[in-house]
Amino acid sequence: MEAEKYSYVEALRWLAAKYNVEIEESETSPEYKLQQQVADSLYIINNFAQKFFTDNLFHSEEGQDIALAYLKERGFREEIIQKFQLGYNPEARDGFTQAALAAKYNPELLQKAGLVNVRDGNTYDNYRGRIIFPIHNQSGKVLGFGARIIKKNDKAPKYINSPENEIYVKSKILYGSYFARQAIDKADECLLVEGYTDVVSLHQAGIENVVASGGTSLTPDQLRLIKKYTNNLTIIYDGDSAGIKAALRGLDLALEESLNVKLVLIPDGEDPDSYVNKVGTAAFIDFVNANKKDFILFQLGIALKDAGSDSTKKSIVVNQIAETISKINKTEDFTKQQDYIKQCSEILKIEESGLHALVNKFIMETVNKKQTRVNRDQRFTEATNNTEQGVEADADVTALFNKDEIHEQAMIRSLLEFGLKNWIPPGQEAIEEQKVADYIFKEIEENQLEELIDNKELVRILKTYKAWYDAGLEPGTKNFLYHDDLPMSALVVSIMDFNYEISPNWKTHFEGHIATREELFAEEVFSTVNYLKLRKIKRLMDENQRDLEKATLAEDQMMLVQTHQHLKQMEIELTRQLGTVIFR
Ligand code: GTP
Ligand code: MN
Repeated sequence: MEAEKYSYVEALRWLAAKYNVEIEESETSPEYKLQQQVADSLYIINNFAQKFFTDNLFHSEEGQDIALAYLKERGFREEIIQKFQLGYNPEARDGFTQAALAAKYNPELLQKAGLVNVRDGNTYDNYRGRIIFPIHNQSGKVLGFGARIIKKNDKAPKYINSPENEIYVKSKILYGSYFARQAIDKADECLLVEGYTDVVSLHQAGIENVVASGGTSLTPDQLRLIKKYTNNLTIIYDGDSAGIKAALRGLDLALEESLNVKLVLIPDGEDPDSYVNKVGTAAFIDFVNANKKDFILFQLGIALKDAGSDSTKKSIVVNQIAETISKINKTEDFTKQQDYIKQCSEILKIEESGLHALVNKFIMETVNKKQTRVNRDQRFTEATNNTEQGVEADADVTALFNKDEIHEQAMIRSLLEFGLKNWIPPGQEAIEEQKVADYIFKEIEENQLEELIDNKELVRILKTYKAWYDAGLEPGTKNFLYHDDLPMSALVVSIMDFNYEISPNWKTHFEGHIATREELFAEEVFSTVNYLKLRKIKRLMDENQRDLEKATLAEDQMMLVQTHQHLKQMEIELTRQLGTVIFR
């Protein structure tokens, strides 16, 4: 499992295949069995084809004179050609076809493998006159082929690939991963290039932690494959490749998977293959290390350049980058996310707090979407068993609301600053006889102060405020700043200082008018109080969940499930209110 990064079941299958032990899998459907049989046959056919092509490359006259000569002229040495099992399919109409039929391979499966074509009842070779790049799976079996034309020909595509079939599933394939996996593990970095020749050339140069995506955007499966070995992905593309934009499309996914993505552009119309041949291994590695660009900042750079001075386009860019940053949302990546917000807001020349709020908006949207989904699909089941979706959504919400005590501080700050204003319930008129302080004390009393706020010092500030307020005084920030109680006044200083704006009205903000916290105080008060309530609900749900796991009596279980439903309902309601109020 460790060496091949296999799951337990994969490791069992691998061992069984290696030692010819048959494993009987229970409950395989007839369709699954059939599919397995086809897959097995395709592997066997590909194996035959690979040997045929390699044999042709090295031993036929045509192979040597045309294909091998071409590869050598490009600088590929024999040992690397052997290692990657490159081959050649001769020009003749049906050289391979004849050999395969003579060896009794099934014509339909040959076609399914993409090795032959049938036209007007005649079967002929699909890769005629092409160099063959076998594509291996994680254990070295041939899944399919990429085939490159040798002679320049404007009518035929430069490369053709195997069609999708039981074993060749493009979205799951990274060319070269079989040869690269140990090197990636060792280097703790995966280099991603566009083409087959880039992979082979870099290998030849001793740079073995490299795979190719074939110039399309990265898929979740490909990213998962990389993540088995490393968290560090470095994309190396040629500077004017159309593939860059495709690669960029995979970015958000990579971030969700917590991959650190860097980008290196190879200059002057070169690609990794030609560049390493030109400058050599050491210079290539130096270049890569010296030119690694941060992927997000790079993307921002391109987008800004495209937008020019058009302010509408620019605000689209801001939204896009905020959405991208919002994908970095695992608790352990919190600092990274904050860094990006800072750097990007500097590049964009906008307020950091504004970008912060926008990123939060996208996070909330994602959370809300997941909540709705969970709510709609799984009302009952997810209460009784932790389905995948339920767990996923919960983890996200927790990540959002347990990021230290920032919300506690924000709530206290809004009390100190706005406590004496007339309270305006969201979406309603101001209430003359109710102050913000009254609203806050009512809410936290109902929810029990100590359970809402963890930090005992903050609780002390709140109680002090309340004592003054109840005594008819008009407490404010100043009273605390100049208080004799030094720990308390120091804490208030730091609360007042921290950069946390929960609800600037983004649009007007961006177009020049900066909505102040003063203008948006009611939303800030409402959201800070309710974030804390939401956090408490999450905690109660966790507790309830633990009880549920322990409960053995049916009636206890029923009751706990009902409690869960009730809490979930409250959570959804609160999340909804927060989503619309804070980020309107
Ligand atoms: P060389 O020109 O031999 O150096 O190959 P290359 O890998 O540098 O090719 P290029 O940079 O043009 O393309 C990069 C990758 O995109 C290739 O390795 C293929 O995977 C893919 N590709 C390029 N051209 C085609 C094509 O015509 N059809 C398909 N399906 N894929 C292509
Ligand atoms: Mn090339």
